[in-house]
Amino acid sequence: MDRPYYHINFAMTVDGRMANPDGSRLRISSPEDIRRVHLLRQELGAILVGVNTIVMDDPKLTVKEEHVPSPRPLTKIVLDTRGRTPSNVRFLWTPGRSLIAVGNGKGKATRDRILGSNPKTNLDLDIIELGVIEGRLDLQGLSRSLIERGIERVLIEGGPSVIGSFIASNNFDRLTVYISPMLVGGKGPSLFSGLSSLDSIERLELVSSERSGEGELQDYRPIR
Ligand SMILES: NC(=O)c1ccc[n+]([C@@H]2O[C@H](COP(=O)([O-])OP(=O)(O)OC[C@H]3O[C@@H](n4cnc5c(N)ncnc54)[C@H](OP(=O)(O)O)[C@@H]3O)[C@@H](O)[C@H]2O)c1
Repeated sequence: MDRPYYHINFAMTVDGRMANPDGSRLRISSPEDIRRVHLLRQELGAILVGVNTIVMDDPKLTVKEEHVPSPRPLTKIVLDTRGRTPSNVRFLWTPGRSLIAVGNGKGKATRDRILGSNPKTNLDLDIIELGVIEGRLDLQGLSRSLIERGIERVLIEGGPSVIGSFIASNNFDRLTVYISPMLVGGKGPSLFSGLSSLDSIERLELVSSERSGEGELQDYRPIR
């Protein structure tokens, strides 16, 4: 196995928006969809986001007990080229290992800064250094590091830049999108803002499409 199984999951509005126009968190998912995502997190065991999502939303990256009784801890993976993860963000304190991937040469400073701000605690923190290609972390190197650590299935939850990179590099096995019947407008984050031009058109098979709460859940697999 040269890379983990990658499942991309996100929620967007009918006009493709994934947050408020100013980038702040927007509640897009229905209660039914939130429950589905928590079950998916539990099933895959590892969740991955970009550092902008950490800075903007400060997510806990957990499985809530109201959805899964006695959930097992998740591995929480953050892509953070320059080591910008704030030391007081919530995911560092939730159950499970926090794995922050930074660019080569940024590991020690990032570790010292986070642990220096939290000296009396035993944070379960793993900081890995990866090569940087065109200013972004090398996803092949990431995949190798995850496999070396026994992480074989990952849920990629965003934001759009991270999702766009996994799509552009053909690194995904399944893509689910919840589409909420809302229009947001403006120039805030959208899937399309995160997706640069592709080497070739990516064709997807629509596996299912079903109503979920007031919106719709679409489930795709890449055709390769
Ligand atoms: N609706 C949803 O499902 C959903 C889910 C999550 C987040 N969001 C929203 O998404 C927004 C944040 O998204 P975003 O696109 O600005 O940022 P993001 O995808 O959360 O993070 C992108 C950052 O990750 C780092 N990175 C390192 N390697 C990367 C790689 N190979 N590919 C891509 N990024 C890499 C870069 O940091 P450096 O710039 O330091 O190099 C990059 O700027 C927030 O507004 C949040 O609310 C929505």
